[in-house]
Amino acid sequence: MASTAPVTALFRRWRALLLCLLIAVCTGCSRDPGPGDAAQDSADRPAALPQADALAQLGRAVFFDTSLSSPPGQSCASCHDPAWAFATPRDRMQAGMAPGADGARFGMRNPPTLMYAAFSPARRVDPVRGVLVGGLMHDQQADSLEDQALRPLFHPAEMANPSPAALVAKLRRTPYAAQFDRLFGRSVLADPGTAMQAVAAAVAAYQREPEFAPFSSKFDAVMDGRAAFDASESRGWEVFRDPRRGNCVECHAIGDAQGRRALFTDFSSHNLGLPPNRSSPYYRMSAPVNPEGGRFIDIGVARDPRRAGMEGRFRVPTLRNVAVTSPYMHNGVFASLGEAVRFYTTGCIAGNPDGWAAPEVPEGRECRKVGRLTLNARDSADLVNFMYTLTDGWYDPATGRPGPMQVAPLPPIIGGVGRVASHP
Ligand code: HEC
Ligand code: HEC
Repeated sequence: MASTAPVTALFRRWRALLLCLLIAVCTGCSRDPGPGDAAQDSADRPAALPQADALAQLGRAVFFDTSLSSPPGQSCASCHDPAWAFATPRDRMQAGMAPGADGARFGMRNPPTLMYAAFSPARRVDPVRGVLVGGLMHDQQADSLEDQALRPLFHPAEMANPSPAALVAKLRRTPYAAQFDRLFGRSVLADPGTAMQAVAAAVAAYQREPEFAPFSSKFDAVMDGRAAFDASESRGWEVFRDPRRGNCVECHAIGDAQGRRALFTDFSSHNLGLPPNRSSPYYRMSAPVNPEGGRFIDIGVARDPRRAGMEGRFRVPTLRNVAVTSPYMHNGVFASLGEAVRFYTTGCIAGNPDGWAAPEVPEGRECRKVGRLTLNARDSADLVNFMYTLTDGWYDPATGRPGPMQVAPLPPIIGGVGRVASHP
């Protein structure tokens, strides 16, 4: 990830600065003398709410603002569109990669949904399992939404601002500039450092709003006893949990409540032995976007030198809204859910009967867990049908109210760009 020096320095100071910011905001509130002073605790808390709400509203304004990219025209929502579960509309992508603000540069990975991202815990090494858990991005490189928020604004294949100063100049001209002053103090946009903290805090606050985590899928309705799976979905839910068949829950965890509010990830990372996506336009990029050109190999979590030995590992994504967010995997190598399930079934079988292309990172591939499942054609179709129930905005056909998401028509079970030979 190339970024300018001042931005890198800012990241290092980030956590300390954020803390100061929070303390400043909090002490600001509690100093307000008022009639509620005696009953301090209960009186102060509701008063803090409009402030939090205003911060999220400001973040929303930034998130959808297309004037902040260089050249103008791109916002966060260009790649994280609410109608596509805050992932990229399929027709805007090339082989799973989204174009940057200039329309010509492409990044190296498939933009993920931002829904439920706020639930990802900060990175830590799990003391029991000894594995890295949590963080954001496919390779767990960001600690929190705040830590992540500024990166796309300066990434050369995304919103491509040359410097914080250049971004601040744009922010001052926005209709919501005064709102920054109101929430953070008059001089906040005078200094690029404080301005960047404010932007990150606002954008992160917006992503913690309920619209990113509505828990409104058919799955949720079934878990709450308000609806029932059809026969295929019901079998798929079984296969998903059955340790002898899918065992998907080993990584796409459903939590203690056995489904209610499940996030379908344990936030760990694994090497599935995925083939590279040779159609990705990223291989045609040159420096500063891709200094390695066609020789690029994505080693995932191990791009961080402190994580040597974790080559080829990527974070387990949520499966919520997965029917909306094709193509799949960090590199978009699979066009359909059926193809992903097929890879889990036969990817590691000796003799490679399905003709999968060789893994991008063969070392450390976890064949014991994934790659030779005993699933028949019906199990696979059931699994896919089950995953379709994870789409938010599900509606009861009886009431006839349509959901907001762009669910793809059920794709074919076999076929796509990840396979070098087709299956009979
Ligand atoms: C040009 C497309 C593009 C734009 C514009 C963009 N993103 Fe992203 N976003 C991506 C890609 C690609 C990734 C995955 C990167 C990786 O893992 O290396 C990503 C990842 C993320 C993640 C991590 C999600 C997770 O679950 O790990 C967050 C949060 C995020 N983006 C927020 C934003 C915000 C906020 C903005 C605007 C300031 C933004 N993005 C603008 C393409 C984009
Ligand atoms: C050993 C852990 C593990 C198990 C078991 C597992 N997965 Fe995954 N899954 C992952 C990881 C890691 C990724 C992301 C890989 C990447 O992007 O490189 C992933 C990605 C996916 C994706 C793509 C999601 C997206 O948004 O791109 C789907 C679909 C999926 N898994 C379904 C399943 C199903 C169905 C099962 C059970 C048959 C299953 N997984 C079992 C670890 C696992």
